[in-house]
Amino acid sequence: MEKTVQLYEGKAKKVFATEDPALCIVSYKDDATAFNGLKKGTIAGKGVVNNRMSNLLMQLLEKSGVPTHFVEELSDRDTLVKKVQIVPLEVIIRNVSAGSFAKHYGVEEGIVFDEPTIEFSYKNDELGDPLLNSYHALALKLATKEEVETIKKLAFKVNEVLTEYFKTLGIRLVDFKLEFGRLPDGTIVLADEISPDTCRLWDINTNEKLDKDRFRRDMGGVEDAYKEVFKRLMGE
Ligand code: TMP
Ligand code: ASP
Repeated sequence: MEKTVQLYEGKAKKVFATEDPALCIVSYKDDATAFNGLKKGTIAGKGVVNNRMSNLLMQLLEKSGVPTHFVEELSDRDTLVKKVQIVPLEVIIRNVSAGSFAKHYGVEEGIVFDEPTIEFSYKNDELGDPLLNSYHALALKLATKEEVETIKKLAFKVNEVLTEYFKTLGIRLVDFKLEFGRLPDGTIVLADEISPDTCRLWDINTNEKLDKDRFRRDMGGVEDAYKEVFKRLMGE
């Protein structure tokens, strides 16, 4: 399958049409942004890591009963996916306090929760992705009640599967952000990516950060952190 016209360019990926109207090609870039695009940079090799990692995890999730947009990995940076209409919700699951949770509620990072939390933000860069709850999502007609229920159920299922999987790699899945899409028949599927850009991943023994927080917080060792996650995933 070949790329035809570019449909969209986001902060970390480009999306192309193909000859098949039901399929798109996503192409992962090395560009990195944070704080709603205020901070910009490049993470060498990130596009390859995020593409291959997302594809591996999406296939694992499919086997576990989570429908995804994944069709076929075309190259190190390009993947064929089902064309979806993105539900404009960022779905965040947390297992351990970190990031904006720690900041909002005035707690330290690293508190392990008894139960995972879920939150939504409105995927809207102009508004800075404001937090909202499921009632707000319905009021704004971002999704139907049934869709919100399906999304919640799938997001917790993703958490169960990925938490267990990352544990086998010596990685703690602290939190992550998911996006879902609608197929033409209305089916909700997992879309976007699952990568160190969209997850907090801590070494299980040392709590060393192996994710984009190293870029957000100018900690150094950004490329090495992505490479380390990739190495563990690929079993090298
Ligand atoms: P937060 O603690 O900043 O709210 O982030 C929660 C999780 O969501 C974290 O794993 C990083 C991810 N995330 C994104 O993927 N995109 C974003 O724009 C933001 C703010 C967070
Ligand atoms: N990707 C988001 C942005 O640029 C933020 C983040 O991941 O921290 O704004």
